[in-house]
Amino acid sequence: MAKYDTIGATYAQTRMADPRIAAAIQEAIGDTASVVNVGAGTGSYEPPTTVLAVEPSKVMLSQRSTVAAPAVQALAEALPLRDNAVDVALAVLTVHHWHDLARGMAEMKRVARSRIVLFTWRPEMMARFWLLREYLPAAAVTDARVAVPLDALAAMLPGASLRVQPVPIPHDCTDGFGAAYWRRPHAYLDPRVRAGISMLATTDPAELAPGLEQLRSDLQTQRWHARHARLVEQESLDVGYCIVIVDL
Ligand SMILES: C[S@@+](CC[C@H](N)C(=O)[O-])C[C@H]1O[C@@H](n2cnc3c(N)ncnc32)[C@H](O)[C@@H]1O
Repeated sequence: MAKYDTIGATYAQTRMADPRIAAAIQEAIGDTASVVNVGAGTGSYEPPTTVLAVEPSKVMLSQRSTVAAPAVQALAEALPLRDNAVDVALAVLTVHHWHDLARGMAEMKRVARSRIVLFTWRPEMMARFWLLREYLPAAAVTDARVAVPLDALAAMLPGASLRVQPVPIPHDCTDGFGAAYWRRPHAYLDPRVRAGISMLATTDPAELAPGLEQLRSDLQTQRWHARHARLVEQESLDVGYCIVIVDL
């Protein structure tokens, strides 16, 4: 059973594509390029020119809209496409889940004629995010174990040049991923929100409990607000999320 068959049941409720991030991804892809969306999930950020969505989890596939691109149940590590089948291979917030990342990246390169576009994050910056640094060190351990450093990605694409565009996260981001609630700390106390964030959903709840209790208390006493007064004034925050563009 795919991991997201277990943790993805409420994905479509808390993980709505954010329009600003969608626009940045679309710009990286270009308007006319044919696309394979790998690790497509429920279809967030899927450009209209997508010819195929590839997704291993039945539970995620079942949450796709009826008007979304055709989808197949398959893995990045064995893409059901011929060589050079599409202009662009897209992978959004998924490479950290692949069981054989090098093979998956080789497959993206094989099927894409001109470009690979990834939306991912820099683990070394995520480690400094207040939630992990001050409250949930066990989740920081999970993230450090699964997240993919950009130099590891580059090493898997020898000879290719990577362009990295930082994506600051808006304070009202509609896609509830790991650091999306950087200015809405109460959200992390909601089990439904945590269920949509894999680094929290896959960390032992008993290890998260003390930090969540501390966060609850710090929000009640306004200690969190005192400590993060400058954060509350910001419209967006660079937590390490980025678009990686690989021209082939
Ligand atoms: C955080 S979700 C992202 C889904 C979608 N791209 C989005 O932005 O909403 C990660 C997705 O990667 C998928 N996934 C996990 N392992 C995979 C693999 N080996 N190949 C392709 N997709 C995989 C999961 O099933 C899940 O749907």
